[in-house]
Amino acid sequence: MTRENEIADVRSRMELDQIYCRDLPTVPTPEKGPILVTGGTGYIGGRLAPELLDRGYKVRVMVRSHSPEHAERWPGAEIVVADALDVASLTAALRGIHTAYYLIHSLLLGPEEFEASDLANAKNFRRAAEKNGVARIIYLGGLGDVRTLLSPHLRSRMHVAEALGSGRIPTTVLRAAIIIGSGSASYEILQHLVRKLFIVPVPYWGRTRCQPISIRDVIKYLVGVLEKPETAGASFDIGGADILTYEEMMRVIAEVLGKKRLFVRFFVSNIKFYSYLTGLLTPVPALITRSLMEGLQNDVVCLDRRIAQLVPFRTLTFRESVIRALLREEQDAVDTRWSDAYPLAHELSTKLHELKPPPRYTAHAAMLTARNADELFHSVCRIGGTEGWFHENWMWRLRGTLDNLFMGVGTTRGRRSLSTLRVNDVIDFWRVEAMVQDRLLLLRAEMKLPGRAWLKFSIDPKNGQNRLSLTAYYDTRTFFGRLYWYVFLPFHGYIFGRLIRNIAERK
Ligand SMILES: NC(=O)c1ccc[n+]([C@@H]2O[C@H](COP(=O)([O-])OP(=O)(O)OC[C@H]3O[C@@H](n4cnc5c(N)ncnc54)[C@H](OP(=O)(O)O)[C@@H]3O)[C@@H](O)[C@H]2O)c1
Repeated sequence: MTRENEIADVRSRMELDQIYCRDLPTVPTPEKGPILVTGGTGYIGGRLAPELLDRGYKVRVMVRSHSPEHAERWPGAEIVVADALDVASLTAALRGIHTAYYLIHSLLLGPEEFEASDLANAKNFRRAAEKNGVARIIYLGGLGDVRTLLSPHLRSRMHVAEALGSGRIPTTVLRAAIIIGSGSASYEILQHLVRKLFIVPVPYWGRTRCQPISIRDVIKYLVGVLEKPETAGASFDIGGADILTYEEMMRVIAEVLGKKRLFVRFFVSNIKFYSYLTGLLTPVPALITRSLMEGLQNDVVCLDRRIAQLVPFRTLTFRESVIRALLREEQDAVDTRWSDAYPLAHELSTKLHELKPPPRYTAHAAMLTARNADELFHSVCRIGGTEGWFHENWMWRLRGTLDNLFMGVGTTRGRRSLSTLRVNDVIDFWRVEAMVQDRLLLLRAEMKLPGRAWLKFSIDPKNGQNRLSLTAYYDTRTFFGRLYWYVFLPFHGYIFGRLIRNIAERK
């Protein structure tokens, strides 16, 4: 089959409605009672909740902070705000729950903190679930042979499984290797490396074996085990149709993309070096790539295939998973992304209205336009990503590259979707803090800065026209921070004025 025919074949088999489980062989059992999905704002939880709702379950989605868009995202679901570090809030979230999905993960806290935090969260969760008489817990963890020396990330997945399963509640553990799907960190890393490198260096761990699994199949297994009571209290390895080395995966991606790449064995194998390089070349920042890449020295293949008898369906090949992910991107239908989750404890999570006193430094640009608020807001919401910043894009990119060099998030993160925007979505080195339809878009800076910064786009009616304005807020306590502000102030004045003019003129 030619590459074009293969892509067309996968496209024709892909359900365009985003629901994966309609052909699952198991039968929905909504009568068992309410289901809790934790990690609702995360990559997996955000995709699981709609599937359960579609199958008629009464779903409660647990998030760490309230946002009005949650009700729109999961219509029919009950939204509960709780933090796994706060037992009282967890106990309330678990009240009356029959089965709880544990999809909480703290990788974004960084290598020093995530292990302890994940373990504390899991222990709290088990206790609160026991107090509420929860009948089952279902946890998605990581593959890896416990008899070998595992990376901190894989080890932490095992510890969480033990902590959840060591109590009275039957816990189903699904263990997966890397997940391939639109918006998954592993897929974006592999894909961007293949796109950007003509010569791909392959260290010895590039030949480690892995059994990747498609996001579609992960969701099917998560739902399938809920509908098979005999899976309670057991651990299952889940994987896709092939076992491949990381080099083979990149070769497959190169073929799918139609790119000729030279793969060369490389004697340098230092993980810090590769994770830094990967942070520079891909949307995923070095902080995350480091934790993920440390696991590349461990074989991650299914050690048992019992799940195939209990929840039988044809799992996708790696190649099919990649094509599906590419097609989702092409259709601008990426539902959740690795960048969605955001730790509240992060130093950059302070909201503009929470800052006391308010930021001292501001820069402002505004203009009057005859265009209506709906069109202006639509134009504002398309900034960043592949569309760029409308004017002097090279300056934004240069700032992003500098940020990447200093291990920041840079501008390569782009955005989840070109046409839609949600609170907490990333836009290059910004994160959406607040949105009011046709009125306001507030972005919080996540780039390396000697202070904290926000960009606020506002649309206000004035004298029969609309006033489009852009305000930058900056807060700093240091001399260097003030120096930074004044050095960049002339550039800001220049860029902001043109930026809003372009937004207003854009069709
Ligand atoms: N994604 C993969 O490729 C992959 C592969 C294999 C296994 N898994 C496993 O799948 C599970 C889910 O992973 P994921 O990729 O969906 O993770 P993720 O995108 O990082 O999401 C993590 C979720 O946990 C929430 N969270 C973190 N700390 C919390 C706390 N103290 N209280 C309440 N919620 C908290 C986050 O909420 P905030 O948004 O508020 O931060 C977020 O919703 C993990 O166990 C992971 O090991 C994932």
